[in-house]
Amino acid sequence: MAQTLQRTPLFERHVALGARMVPFAGWEMPVQYEGVIPEDRAVRTDCGVFDVSHMGELEVEGMHAFDLLQSLLKDPVLAEPALKGLASTDDPKTPAAILAAYPDLSQPAKRAAINTLSFRPAFAKGLMQAVKDNKIPRKDLTAYTVRQLRSFGDKEIDAWTTEIWGVAKTSNEQKLAEIAKYKSLLTSDVLKTGDAIAGRALFSKTCMQCHTLFGEGGKVGPDLTGSNRQDIDYLMVNIVDPSAVIAKDYMVSNIYMKDGDAYSGIITKEDEHTLSVTVESGVQVLQKEEVKEIRRSELSMMPEGLLTPLSKTELVNLITYLRSTSQVGETQRVQP
Ligand code: HEC
Repeated sequence: MAQTLQRTPLFERHVALGARMVPFAGWEMPVQYEGVIPEDRAVRTDCGVFDVSHMGELEVEGMHAFDLLQSLLKDPVLAEPALKGLASTDDPKTPAAILAAYPDLSQPAKRAAINTLSFRPAFAKGLMQAVKDNKIPRKDLTAYTVRQLRSFGDKEIDAWTTEIWGVAKTSNEQKLAEIAKYKSLLTSDVLKTGDAIAGRALFSKTCMQCHTLFGEGGKVGPDLTGSNRQDIDYLMVNIVDPSAVIAKDYMVSNIYMKDGDAYSGIITKEDEHTLSVTVESGVQVLQKEEVKEIRRSELSMMPEGLLTPLSKTELVNLITYLRSTSQVGETQRVQP
């Protein structure tokens, strides 16, 4: 299985500056821009800069730590790590700070923003209100977010997610009907009109945080590169009804913490004092003494309803990309 290389927040800038990127200790790093001689001269006469953002962790602590993190939300490079840091405490100013920065965030930072708002019950209501007020587009919530929000068991939030997303668990008949509907739509003629490049962008937004395809992507779910992707039946059954057949390794546990937080994820490691839980955005290490209750579910980590928000064209594009035999080009990325 190809190893996924990590990218620093400066990756796109290196590429835009013409860098040749090479694997370096698990990261894609720039090795050269113009060539050894001009670069050697530049360092002697001006100055050289080395991207060290893959090398360490930033720890922010002290009285105004959260004010600092909130002020970093406007920084294109530091917004994403700052958002992850803000998820660790219920600072009441955090939701408003995130909402103010939201429209200008990059796509991965938007996902981190929504994760931060949906991980903490104290922030979840702020997220709900922001979507109701159209400050965060409803389409930015994934099926995964909705499940995370439902894990709190809050009546008001449950009623709202049902309103915008439909019932929590669809019956088998409903799923079979849904699979049949998609299959009748995805005829070979229709699939010829699909745009794999547009489909790739949808895959990056809805699937890639968990799945690797053509060597790129997350590892929460199986690598899809070698799977039976050409087969529409295989794709539809697995996407529409992910919990129909799942290996134990991928079953979700809902973990309720004493301070009111809740996590929905796969318990991937356990020792005497800690639990490692794989959630969509990475691994959370939880102290066992802070855990109140663990409920194991029969549900897959892969959420239901992923195709629900897609238009017909988007569905056709996504399926076209999933069935392609090799990697396709990328749509122009918008600079943050
Ligand atoms: C939150 C993580 C997550 C997201 C997002 C996600 N998946 Fe999955 N997926 C999983 C997990 C975990 C499994 C394995 C368990 C199962 O089959 O339900 C899986 C299984 C699958 C399988 C079956 C793989 C096999 O074992 O043969 C397919 C196909 C698939 N996903 C496609 C998709 C597509 C397409 C998307 C985006 C529209 C997507 N997934 C989004 C986590 C995810």
